[in-house]
Amino acid sequence: MQRYKRELRIPGPAPVPAEVSLQMARPMINHRGRTFQTKFPEIMRRLQPLFGTERTIYMITGSGTAGMETAVSNLLRPQVPVLCLVGGFFGRRWQELCQAYGADVHTLEFSWGSGIKPPAVGDYLKQHPEIELIFVVHNESSTAVLNDVEKIAKAREGHQALLVVDAVSSLGGVPFKMDEWGVDVVVSASQKCLMAPPGTAFISVSARAFEYLKDNPQGRYYFDLRKYAEYLERGETPFTPNINNVFALEAALDMIEAEGLDNVYARHNLMRDMLRSGIKALGLELLTTKQDASPTVTAVKIEQADAFRARINQRFGVEFAGGQGVHAGKIIRIGHMGYATPLDVLTALAVLEIELGKFGQAVKAAETVLAG
Ligand SMILES: Cc1ncc(COP(=O)(O)O)c(C=O)c1O
Repeated sequence: MQRYKRELRIPGPAPVPAEVSLQMARPMINHRGRTFQTKFPEIMRRLQPLFGTERTIYMITGSGTAGMETAVSNLLRPQVPVLCLVGGFFGRRWQELCQAYGADVHTLEFSWGSGIKPPAVGDYLKQHPEIELIFVVHNESSTAVLNDVEKIAKAREGHQALLVVDAVSSLGGVPFKMDEWGVDVVVSASQKCLMAPPGTAFISVSARAFEYLKDNPQGRYYFDLRKYAEYLERGETPFTPNINNVFALEAALDMIEAEGLDNVYARHNLMRDMLRSGIKALGLELLTTKQDASPTVTAVKIEQADAFRARINQRFGVEFAGGQGVHAGKIIRIGHMGYATPLDVLTALAVLEIELGKFGQAVKAAETVLAG
């Protein structure tokens, strides 16, 4: 139908606004020169309200997983007892990373499609006072579940463990309060709600976690946060960063700040509610309950999901993501993060209606939510 204008409706990388993309074409500058040294720390500071922290934000050139590996490589020692909370593909990634670094990995498994249960975490910690680190995903992109990190942090009830959170697909679209919730390490990345191209990861570390990692004798080099802290003092990164992505992020932050963070969060909630209402009107089944539902991605059960979304992509140029892990081939995932609007939700529902031959109901249901 339309081959040249494509709609990317996957849970990241998310669409990038033109104002942001243009920054990628800027002439290259010296990463050890004045412009970068002045701009870079200021741009990192502007991320602090999104993290909900007054702590420093460090940038690693690499994808979100590089941010995750930064956390693991700085914190872990061989045989250190850690607890991984796994309810999806990215929770599993924490577990695999911890195993790769030789930790004594304890795992609490939750069903792939519902949230991590804080009381279960609390019970486990009571029985295992030796656990030093807990790893969890805020927004499990593989199942479209938003985990309650505040309650998970509280479930420690005085337990020593540091809490490490993957906020890759939530930060900038969903409120995060690192300091208030008592989260120790938060990792995110440029290509989701932050509306920039892929290529940079961000990490913030509490005072207690920095103390913990500072004297860790375990070897690390590119990801060594002590080096990032030292170089940031003079406005630099230890290695050549993805310079233009920093300016892309600056332009994205301009847009986020102009809209206002609360409005950004409200827009994401609205898109979630519109989409869920439309999907139900189509008679399709959502993977998650309302309580667990993510504001940035929605998962829908559908037969022969991959063939279904391939047809939609072919006919309309609208691209949805497929399932991962146990949900491979059984769900479609619709991204509505970052540079996405309620109108994009209506478009997504319209193509679903047409493909399913069920006209009128889904868009109408979503419009009703939009009209309030
Ligand atoms: C929740 C979550 N964590 C981690 C990642 C990994 O990020 P990357 O693919 O940038 O390494 C993703 C990417 O989809 C994600 O959604």
